[in-house]
Amino acid sequence: MKQTGKVIDLRSDTVSVPTPEMLQAMMQAQVGDDVYGEDPTANRLEAMTAELLGKEAAVFVASGTMANLVSIRAHTEPGDEVILDANSHSFHYECGGYAAVAGVTFWLVQGDRGIIQPEQIAAAVRADNVHFPRSRLVIIENTHNRGGGTVYPVETVRRIADVCRQHDLRLHMDGARLLNACAAAGAEPADYARHADSVAICLSKSLGCPVGSLVAGSGEFARRARRLRKMLGGGMRQVGYLAAAGIYALQHNVERLAEDHQHARLLADGIRRTGGLQLKYDPPETNMLYFDVLPPRTPADVQAVLRKEGILLNDASGTTFRAVTHLGVTRADIEKAISVLQTHFG
Ligand SMILES: Cc1ncc(COP(=O)(O)O)c(C=O)c1O
Repeated sequence: MKQTGKVIDLRSDTVSVPTPEMLQAMMQAQVGDDVYGEDPTANRLEAMTAELLGKEAAVFVASGTMANLVSIRAHTEPGDEVILDANSHSFHYECGGYAAVAGVTFWLVQGDRGIIQPEQIAAAVRADNVHFPRSRLVIIENTHNRGGGTVYPVETVRRIADVCRQHDLRLHMDGARLLNACAAAGAEPADYARHADSVAICLSKSLGCPVGSLVAGSGEFARRARRLRKMLGGGMRQVGYLAAAGIYALQHNVERLAEDHQHARLLADGIRRTGGLQLKYDPPETNMLYFDVLPPRTPADVQAVLRKEGILLNDASGTTFRAVTHLGVTRADIEKAISVLQTHFG
């Protein structure tokens, strides 16, 4: 049967596209040359984000990858070492920019679904010895992508910050989905951000913008980040058209994140009732869920069935799939996905 209806795209929240209202806000943006500091809309988005996170300043950058890279480079010198979870996005999916551009090494610790503990950080700090790199930075990812959209307890972040202070380490939070974490934890963004020296948030994932991330921190951090952004070719000119999408998203698309989380739980309930599929992390904490296909069925079976039905999922690895809910996915879409999975893998 040829698939004719809507494609239900659960591969990632990055596939979400701007709504007509967001596009309208973009069209109406006041713009100027942002490298001259003259784009009023970019300036407003940066000020709004700094306020949201309780930081002195924020810088609008092209992507989550750029946000993490400028933060790593801003906090370190070449030869320094960074402590982070072994499943971190920065380690797996950012092209080794930490090594190629920042010249730092990574010390990987094994978190629990991506969540690392203060004691693990303390144990990973290098002794002051002429042979060793200098431990300088800790990165935590909240929510944690490969961990299954896992949320850091605010208290764990506070204790991690204590360890960082004791050892003169900086703390960066890759909060690409920090607002999802807040929705799940019932916390304010600043509750997390106050413990970190820098925080990255992403606009182009569950917030529905076409492009963009921000990094926030002290005024000095932001000056360094802005200069590094320019070095990396990320100094954009009339960027207010994109910043306007970010302002719209922060005003209109944050409260609805809880709906994405409900949809992920609904999908998980449906998968739990199948015999041929098994949730890897149960229940999902935010908008992501991972599941395995059980023998004798194969990942190829799953892909073939779903493709025919117009449902897209990401192969995470081996027999594991990932589904991500976002503002382009309705409750009816989730119900259809459940019905397809139960029909073919029940
Ligand atoms: C946790 C996390 N950090 C950073 C990024 C990088 O974002 P971008 O794709 O905008 O470079 C992603 C992207 O999925 C992510 O999941």
